[in-house]
Parts: sequence; C-alpha cells; structure tokens
Amino acid sequence: MNLFQNIQPFLLIIILLFSFVNCQNIPNPRYLQTSSLIGNRLYFFGGDLSTTDYRNDNAANITNEVWYIDLSSSFNASTPPWNKDVGMPIGYILSASCASPIDNNSVFLVGGRIISLWTTPIIIGLNSSFKMRTEIQPVIDNYGKVYIFGGNNYTSSKNSYVNYNDMSILDTTSMTWSTLPIFENAPLPSFGYTATLLPTGIIVYIGGYKSTRSGSDDPYETVSMYEIQTFNTKNYSWSTKVAGGDKIGTRAYHSAVLTQNNEIIIYGGSMWNDTLKPATPYLAKLDTSSWMWSITNLSQINAPQLSGHSAALYGDYMIIAFGLNPSASSTSDLDLSNYIYVLDIVSYTWVTSVLPTNTYTPSLNTSSPDTPSPDTSSHLDLIIGISIGTAGIVLLGAVGFLLYKRQNQEFIPTSGTTDYRMK
Ligand SMILES: *[C@@H]1O[C@H](CO)[C@@H](O)[C@H](O)[C@H]1NC(C)=O
Ligand SMILES: *[C@@H]1O[C@H](CO)[C@@H](O)[C@H](O)[C@H]1NC(C)=O
Ligand SMILES: *[C@@H]1O[C@H](CO)[C@@H](O)[C@H](O)[C@H]1NC(C)=O
Ligand SMILES: *[C@@H]1O[C@H](CO)[C@@H](O)[C@H](O)[C@H]1NC(C)=O
Ligand SMILES: *[C@@H]1O[C@H](CO)[C@@H](O)[C@H](O)[C@H]1NC(C)=O
Ligand SMILES: *[C@@H]1O[C@H](CO)[C@@H](O)[C@H](O)[C@H]1NC(C)=O
Ligand SMILES: *[C@@H]1O[C@H](CO)[C@@H](O)[C@H](O)[C@H]1NC(C)=O
Ligand SMILES: *[C@@H]1O[C@H](CO)[C@@H](O)[C@H](O)[C@H]1NC(C)=O
Ligand SMILES: *[C@@H]1O[C@H](CO)[C@@H](O)[C@H](O)[C@H]1NC(C)=O
Repeated sequence: MNLFQNIQPFLLIIILLFSFVNCQNIPNPRYLQTSSLIGNRLYFFGGDLSTTDYRNDNAANITNEVWYIDLSSSFNASTPPWNKDVGMPIGYILSASCASPIDNNSVFLVGGRIISLWTTPIIIGLNSSFKMRTEIQPVIDNYGKVYIFGGNNYTSSKNSYVNYNDMSILDTTSMTWSTLPIFENAPLPSFGYTATLLPTGIIVYIGGYKSTRSGSDDPYETVSMYEIQTFNTKNYSWSTKVAGGDKIGTRAYHSAVLTQNNEIIIYGGSMWNDTLKPATPYLAKLDTSSWMWSITNLSQINAPQLSGHSAALYGDYMIIAFGLNPSASSTSDLDLSNYIYVLDIVSYTWVTSVLPTNTYTPSLNTSSPDTPSPDTSSHLDLIIGISIGTAGIVLLGAVGFLLYKRQNQEFIPTSGTTDYRMK
C-alpha cells in the first residue's frame, strides 16, 4: 500500500472542512479584542491574531475586524451565528468599547493600542500624556461620561514605558476631556484590571497589576483580590474596600460582568509573572453590598481556561468569547480561541442551546436620559456604517502593549503548571 493513498482522503477532508469554515464565515481565533452588547447584538472589535508574538513587538497581526452575534433568535453555542461587519479603519486591542447611552450611533474606543494612523476627533482639553494609553478598561455612565483610570504607555519590549494612576473623564456629549488631580488616597499605578460601574455610581476595580512606585514601570506586583479600589463618580473620591469570603487567586486580563443583584462575576484571567498560569478559581462572584467573594459550584471539568477574552451578560446568559488559553505550554505557540461559551448564571451550568431572552440594562440610577431600548436591531448596521464614516467610533491615543511584557528572559515552560481543568 502506498503512503499517498492514505494521505489523499485525509487531505480531502481537510480541504472540505476548510471551505466549510469559509462558507460559514467564522472569525479566526484572537484575544485582547473588546466587545459591547448593543441591543441584541454582541459586537467584537479588533483583537490580536498572532500566536507567536507574545510581547507584541510586531503588531502585524492586530486586526481591524468587527464581528457580531445576533442574540435575538435562538442558536447553538457550538455554531454561533457570526456576522462580519465593516472593518474599522485601524487594528485595535487592549481597551474597552463604551456604547453611548445617549446617541445610539456611537461606540467609543478610548485609548488602547491602535495600529495605523487615524485622525482622532477633536476633543477639547485632551491631555497629551494620555496618548498611547493602554491596558485600561474605561467605563461609560448614563450621562455619557467615560471614566478612564491608569494604564500605561507600553509599546514594545524595546521601549521604556510608564504606569499611571490618573483618572480622566471624557464627556462624550461635549467631547471635553479632563484629568482629575491625583488624590492622596488614589490607588497605585495600575493596569490589566477590570472596571465595573455599579448603579450607585461607584466604579469597582478588580485585579490586575500595580506599580509599587509611582511614575515608574518597575517594580510592580499583583493586586490582591481582597483589596478592592472603588471610585465614586458622584464626588470623585477613591476608597479601598476590604473584601472577604472564599479564597480567590490574583489575576489580570480577566473579565467582569455585573448581575441584576449587583454581584460582579469575574471569569478567567492569568498570571504572567513567572509563566503563563490560569487564574484559580476561574469563576467567582463578588457581592458588592457585603464585599464577600464566593466560589460558585460550577464543575471545573471541561471548562475553558481563558485570558484576554470577552464576557458579556445577556439576560441570564454570561457569554464568553475568544481569548487565550493560559495553560498552553509555550508563549511561542499561543493557544487562541474563536469559541463562545455560554454560562447560565441562574443554574451555573454551561448551555449550548441559547434562547432569545429579555435583556436588561442595569440602571445606573441617574436622572440622565434613558438608556436606548434593547430593540435596536433595525439600525445597528447603521451604527457601524455611520460610525466609520463620521468618526462615531472614537479612538484616542495609540499603541500600548500587553501581556507578558516583563518576560524579557526567555520563556521557560514550567513542569509544575497545574491543569485546573482536571480538578
Ligand atoms: C501572524 O499570525 C500568524 C498566526 O498566528 C503567525 O504565523 C505569524 O507569524 C504572525 N505574523 C506576525 C508578523 O506576527
Ligand atoms: C450543537 O452543535 C453541535 C455541533 O454541531 C452538536 O454536536 C450538538 O448536538 C448541538 N447541540 C444542540 C443542543 O443542538
Ligand atoms: C435610540 O434608539 C431608540 C430605539 O430605536 C430610539 O427610541 C431613540 O430615539 C434613539 N435615540 C437617539 C438619540 O437617536
Ligand atoms: C511613555 O511616557 C514616558 C513619560 O512621558 C516617556 O518617557 C516614554 O518614552 C513613553 N513611552 C512610550 C513607548 O511612548
Ligand atoms: C495630564 O496627565 C498627566 C498624567 O496623569 C498629569 O500629570 C497632568 O497634570 C495632566 N494635565 C492636565 C492639564 O490635566
Ligand atoms: C463621597 O461620597 C461617599 C458616599 O456618599 C462618602 O462616603 C465619602 O465620604 C465622600 N467622599 C468625599 C471626599 O466627599
Ligand atoms: C512575581 O514577581 C514579583 C516581583 O518580581 C516577585 O516578588 C514575586 O515573588 C513573583 N511571584 C510569583 C508567584 O512568582
Ligand atoms: C457548594 O457545594 C458544597 C457541597 O456540595 C456546599 O457545602 C456549598 O455550600 C456550595 N456552595 C455554594 C456557593 O452553593
Ligand atoms: C437609586 O438612588 C436612590 C436615591 O439616591 C436610592 O434610594 C435607590 O435605592 C437607588 N437605587 C438603586 C437601584 O441603587
């Protein structure tokens, strides 16, 4: 029997699968993208497609793609109904997208690492030190004010950078920028955290890294999960909440969503201090009235380990998408995902059949204009279309970098890395 005969059917299968994939129009695996739930559509902007360039010294694989899933009809989570939208003028990673609560046609991507030049809109009083700001998670309130904390101006392992602890506010109604004075009790310079705005106007910052010395990139350490920095958007004051409860490992590049009961569910993340390590437990819940952590009784078996992914809450579904598998054995061969996983947060079970649901927008308890109705499907094409044409997608700053930047030495896979999926 000749070898060729064996190989041929194999090749055929590969080709068929490949063209099937193309027909279905499925996005490539990626991480560090940003996402926004706009009406019934979950949008994904940008992302890093490179499986080799972990320090992001070569930004060639940062994509400008815009994808969305329409959640208004039921689907199988293994075969999500992907739609590709018009690409952005630039590649984009490492910040967050803030959908305007006032103007249905705008999504603000503030800061982050952008690839290729693009004219930024005119912003009154934009602080030049914000340019190149990355590894941040801006949040938008019901008045259309975007709050941006800290981050850094990393571009590649070859350039020096600074971590920040400033708080800036972009008022999207007047396009006015202000940088608040740094208060005495402001957190240390931080990045890689999650930010969640509560209905009370308090922003909760969880995890990430902090510099132990202001104005410097070094040294830095992980932020304890029991030391939670909060910023009150009503009187611009910082305070530290001391959390308790279950044992939650530190993490960065995780995700956080807010439930109707004002609980923050965090998912995934990793540590890149000494090697790529998945955060443990990968799913936990913080009650923001008692500041107690709890670990949900969700089976860890077959659960995805992800970092640099996206998470959004749609009704009772927590939809997790894309990301990097931090259990991968090497940073020169990153294991990226293009799957979506759907967790029912009432029963804490992974579901495959996703049914249409009534969305709710957490009330931010302000007297500002009502948030747009969830039923926006008819004009969503317009959102991206118009946005591109009229700079409705707003980008500030350029270039920043990313994960694993401290690993100037060669990556050494550690044999002791635990596979938490087996627990
Ligand atoms: C882009 O990504 C592909 C797939 O991960 C990789 O093979 C290639 O080397 C990357 N290119 C650059 C310039 O990073
Ligand atoms: C979802 O799709 C997968 C793969 O096509 C299939 O194995 C599974 O049975 C489907 N699940 C449901 C609930 O339809
Ligand atoms: C936003 O969309 C909603 C629903 O389509 C509409 O009622 C509202 O008038 C829109 N708001 C603006 C400012 O266009
Ligand atoms: C970051 O900002 C600092 C202070 O302004 C500057 O010295 C440094 O060159 C900047 N790094 C990059 C990569 O722009
Ligand atoms: C601009 O931001 C820098 C860094 O946070 C800060 O030191 C400076 O005071 C800000 N400038 C203004 C005019 O707010
Ligand atoms: C801001 O408001 C909070 C809650 O009302 C209060 O506890 C805190 O003391 C206030 N801080 C300042 C600086 O006024
Ligand atoms: C992480 O890095 C810091 C500073 O280099 C070091 O003190 C700490 O022990 C490291 N932690 C782990 C888990 O390796
Ligand atoms: C998880 O299960 C254990 C044992 O079955 C139980 O003691 C514990 O209370 C449960 N925790 C939660 C948060 O439901
Ligand atoms: C909204 O604010 C009012 C008054 O400040 C307060 O009584 C109410 O409990 C708040 N609602 C929520 C959901 O936080």
